[in-house]
Formats: sequence, C-alpha cells, structure tokens
Amino acid sequence: MEDLTAFFPDADSFFPDNLPVGLTFDDISLATCYSDILPRDANLSVSLSPSLHLQIPILSSDMDTVTGSKMAVRMALNGGLGLIHYNMTDEAQVKQVARVKNHIHGFIREPIKVTAEQKISEVLDLIARKNYRFSSFPVVDETNRLIGLLPGSCVKARYREHSVHEAMTPRVSVYTLPESAIARSPIEVADQFFTEHIGINKLLIVDDQDRLCGLFTLSDIERLEDEATRIVKPARDDRFRLLCGAAIASHRKPDGSLDAERIVNHVGHLVDEGVDAVAVSTAHGFSQGVGASVRLLRGQFPELTLIAGNVTSADGVAFLAEAGANCIKIGQGPGSICTTRVVAGVGIPQMTALYVASKAAAKHQVTILADGGITKSGDMVKALTLADGLICGGLLAGSDEAPGRIIEINGKLYKQYRGMGSREAMKEGSAARYGHDKKDATSKAAPEGIEALKESVGPLDDVLRELIGGIQSGMGYLGARDLTTLRANARYIRVSPAGQKEAAPHDVITVKASAQTASE
Ligand code: XMP
Repeated sequence: MEDLTAFFPDADSFFPDNLPVGLTFDDISLATCYSDILPRDANLSVSLSPSLHLQIPILSSDMDTVTGSKMAVRMALNGGLGLIHYNMTDEAQVKQVARVKNHIHGFIREPIKVTAEQKISEVLDLIARKNYRFSSFPVVDETNRLIGLLPGSCVKARYREHSVHEAMTPRVSVYTLPESAIARSPIEVADQFFTEHIGINKLLIVDDQDRLCGLFTLSDIERLEDEATRIVKPARDDRFRLLCGAAIASHRKPDGSLDAERIVNHVGHLVDEGVDAVAVSTAHGFSQGVGASVRLLRGQFPELTLIAGNVTSADGVAFLAEAGANCIKIGQGPGSICTTRVVAGVGIPQMTALYVASKAAAKHQVTILADGGITKSGDMVKALTLADGLICGGLLAGSDEAPGRIIEINGKLYKQYRGMGSREAMKEGSAARYGHDKKDATSKAAPEGIEALKESVGPLDDVLRELIGGIQSGMGYLGARDLTTLRANARYIRVSPAGQKEAAPHDVITVKASAQTASE
C-alpha cells in the first residue's frame, strides 16, 4: 500500500519542509493518533530543571499587570509557577517572594480576635456583620497577648449579656505551640498535633512573649490532605512551601558596565527567602549583558534554577545554555501586547522559533518555554509539542489575581494589561529589559509594547481549569499520557486561510461563546 504517513509529517520533516516560511500557531494543526487514554488521565507534570518540578507546564508572565504575589500564590496552588515581575524596588520584590513562600494555606496568619471585655452580643453582631462562618475566636489583650479562647459553643444568643471573659477557655487550658516549633514544616507539625490531641480542632501559635501570631484549624488541615488525591496538585518545594519565581533585569551602572554587586546582592536576598527560580528577563537574550548576568549568577548560585531569555535562534539557546541557564524563554514579538515586530521589524513566528530552539535545547540539555502569543488552549497543545512549558500573559491578565486595575466601561469590567515595553511600564522600571535607561523611557526609547485592556474573567482557578482541560483534550487526541509522549506523537499539517476559517465556529449565530472564543 502507498505510504500515506508523509501527509502528516513529524517536526523534523515538517518545519524544514516549510522553509523559508516561518509558522505560528494558527498556521498549523495537529493530526490525531490512536489513543488508549482518557483526557482526564493525561499527566501534565514537567521538570524545568533538575530541581524545578511543576504539576502543570504553565508559568504566569513576569509582567506588572500579570504576576504579583497574589497571582504567584494561585499559580502555585494550581500546580504552576508565577514569575514575579521587577517593576518595583528590589526590597519590594523580595517581600513579594517571601509572601508566596510563607503562604500557608491552612495557617491563618491574622486570625480575627476579640477582647475579654466585649460582650457575647458584640461578638454575635461581628459575626453577622462580617458574615463569618466560624464562631470561635482567640481572646487577646491590648498588646495582642493571648489570654484565652472563646469557644463557638458559648457564642449564642442566650449568653448575649455575658462577657467574653466569663465565657472563654482560660489561657492555661488553650492549646498553643511556639512560632519556632512550626518554622520548618508548619503543616506537618499541625497535622501531628491534631492527631495526638483527640477532639481539639484549634491550635494557636504564639511568639516568645505569648503574643498571638497564627491559628490552625483541623478542618483546614484536613482539606489540605485532600491535595494528595487531587488530579492537579499544588507546586510545592521539599518543605511544603509553594513554589515561586522572580524575574530580574541585567542592571547596569551609569558607565554602562554590569552592576554585578546589585544583581548578586538582590538574588542572594531572593534565595534567602527560598525563591525557586530566577529569570533574567530581557527582550534580547542573545546579548553580551544577559550572557554576563547568567554567567555571574551561575558562578554565585550553582544550585539555583536560572531561566533566561528571550531568544528565537539555535545560537541564542546555545549561548544562554553555555552561560549556565537551565531553562530558556523563546519568543520575540509574538505577545498580544508586543509591537517589537512592528517597531523593530524583528522576530520569528512562534512555532518555527520553538522548533529551532527545541533542537538546540535537546543538544545542550536545557528546557525551553514558549513565551507569548498563546491565546487559547489549542495554542498551548501545539506549543507543548516543542516546548517544555508555557508563559502566559494576556490569557491570565483578566483574572481576579492579576494586579492590573479594574476599569468599568458600559457596565462591563475590564482589567488593565500592558506590555513591559510600553512607555508607562518602562517609566516604572522595565526599560532595562529593552536595553534602555529608565530616564530614556520618556524621551528617546521607542516603546515596544502597548497598553491595553482584557475582559475581567473571574478567578484564576476557573481560567486554568478550562486551559488545563483543553491541553488534556489535545493529549487525548494524540494518545499522549504525558508531555514527553505528546512531543513524540506530534504530527503536523499546514492550514490554509480557508482551513483557519473552518477551525473556528462558523456559519452559526453564537448564543454563548466559551471563555476562549469570546474575545476573538
Ligand atoms: P501574551 O501573548 O501572553 O505575551 O500576552 C506575553 C509575553 O509578551 C512579552 N512581552 C512583551 N513583548 N513588548 C514585547 O515585544 C512588550 O512590551 C512586552 N511585554 C511583555 C513577554 O515575553 C511576555 O511574557
């Protein structure tokens, strides 16, 4: 029989055969394969370096309208990674990383407290006003020292005339642990405590002066244990802390030389807080300054996962790999808010860039991230046939956790989303990413990004659930139980303009669009 496999070639035939045309996501479609898996069983875990393991291959972009600590926490809880942007002071960025690393789901850092002098009626009013779903409260004095615990069983209308002091369990009978006891493994310690103390469901944490610093509840700890059975688990380090990344610039001194001291000091502080990956983030990674920064950091922090970019050539990948990067960002100009290709006339369509980069990455044993231009889960599946992970900006910028301002237009809610090369973002610090000085950002430098709006789309959990479902569907069609198999099974076909029209909903009146097709 005639060999028909050539109709759907693998990457090594397909991309060279399409030269000299560079291809991007909508130019291609993937062929289906025999499958013996259900989409929901597809495993999305990936290792981006020997020490950076994610449950889903999605990173939120290091942009000031995408990733602050709130986004990074939620990304990690969903199994991915947030790269905290650097349009802020070094100190502020270290604090944001610390916030993510110290985020303990299950440990309430600032519990709602009451005082001994209050009446039960006041506590009942507080619960009604704030709509609290709990009714026991630590009792503290004016210096926040713990003096008792008001049990929920006493917070009843029949006791309304009594004082908290009369109703509370006195300090001596309240179960506490010192802050130092939970420093390394808070969840494990709390879990063990509740196992050893039958019937106790509140554990208070105090400092060395008996001031209240936190609260565990048994129900939260039990909810956390459910993680083990969830399909998508949070991305955690070996101390059970959420994973967090941070981006840095290749800072220069006024004379133009690399500011090695500032870079090393700052990364040292990030490492002290437990950062899991540092990304040297620039628009042009195949450059002397980025190479020097990566080399410097690799020398100083041999074990740290280093991400670097952006590049779009095999030489660029080799350059950053040889400098010491573990993971390389691929993409110049594909981003939804990018104007690099318009302004500078530079950049490679993303799928071709990923193909070239993937070949160099395999040779140098580094991983690559597809950065920019991803507008739907189908793009993610296509990118993952060549890349180890994905960086998303616009797809996540409309979610509640993104730091962008909310704007209402004609009754509809939007979130601000802007390129880091836009004039406003560069004024706030990102000019170095584009090789400009901050003070040039208002005058000389040509912006390479725009300021835009994204429709407000609600919680990140919902956005990711839909995207992950889409990736798993793609893997199901390709018979891929995991991402390595997805890459091995991928076969490509070129799509004509008519094929692109066929690929989206057509010749119908849309009643309800899915989140992914709504804005198209
Ligand atoms: P998406 O398409 O996910 O792209 O919104 C996000 C990625 O775009 C890059 N980026 C820029 N590129 N000018 C550019 O040419 C810019 O102002 C700009 N800001 C961000 C970046 O790689 C990001 O992850």
